[in-house]
Amino acid sequence: MKAIVPKPIEQYAAAHSTPHSALLDELEAYTLANCPRPQMLTGRLAGGLLRILVKLTDARRILEVGLYTGYSALTMAEAMPKDGVIISCEVEPELATLAQSFFDRSPHGRKIEVRMGPALATLQALPVDAVFDLVFLDADKENYCTYYKELLPRLRAGGLLIADNTLWSGSVLKPEEETDRAIVSFNELVQRDPQVENVLLTLRDGMTLIRKL
Ligand SMILES: C[S@@+](CC[C@H](N)C(=O)[O-])C[C@H]1O[C@@H](n2cnc3c(N)ncnc32)[C@H](O)[C@@H]1O
Repeated sequence: MKAIVPKPIEQYAAAHSTPHSALLDELEAYTLANCPRPQMLTGRLAGGLLRILVKLTDARRILEVGLYTGYSALTMAEAMPKDGVIISCEVEPELATLAQSFFDRSPHGRKIEVRMGPALATLQALPVDAVFDLVFLDADKENYCTYYKELLPRLRAGGLLIADNTLWSGSVLKPEEETDRAIVSFNELVQRDPQVENVLLTLRDGMTLIRKL
C-alpha cells in the first residue's frame, strides 16, 4: 500500500487523535514487528474513525470481513456496549489464533466471534434474519462487489457499511491489475446505488462510508 497522505501529515494527525488502549498499542507493535504484510493493519487513524462511528451508530451487531491480527475488531469491541457482538471472518488460522490471544486479555474480547473460512461461505451461512448495525469490509478486494450485494440487505436502515482501501494506493485513477479493476467496479456500484448515501474519504488508502437510507 503506497501512502496517499504524506507520512508527516499522518503522524501529526495520529498525534492529535485520542490514543488507543494499551492493549491495542501492544497488538499494533507486535503485528508490525512479527507479522507478514503489517501494512494491512487498520491502525490508529482509521481505527479512531471506526471507534467513533461505532459509538455514533450505537452499533450492537457488527459484521467484519477480514480479521488479520484483530486490531479493528478489538477497536470496535472496545467501543461497543456490554451486549455488543462482532462476527469477524478470517481464512488464515494462525492469524485468528494470534488475534484470539489478544482478545483473551481484554474485557471486551468476549464480544468478538471469529468465523474461520472463506467469508462468502460464512455470509451465506448466516441465519436469514441476521441484521447488522455496522459492517466493516476489509478483506479480498476482488470480492468487494459480491460482499456488498450479500451484505446490504442485511444492514438495517440507517446502518453503516465501511469499506477500506477504496483508493488502492491511487491505482483507481489508472486501473491495470485485476484488483485495481475490482475496486473501481466497487466504487461505481456504490456510487450508482439509490439505496445508500456515501462518501469516499481520502483517509489512509481510502475509506468509504456507506449509509443505508
Ligand atoms: C486487510 S486485512 C484485515 C485487517 C484488519 N481489519 C485489521 O484491522 O487489522 C485482510 C484479512 O482478510 C483475510 N482474508 C482475505 N481473503 C479472505 C476471505 N475470502 N475470507 C476471509 N478472510 C479473508 C486475510 O487473511 C487478512 O487477514
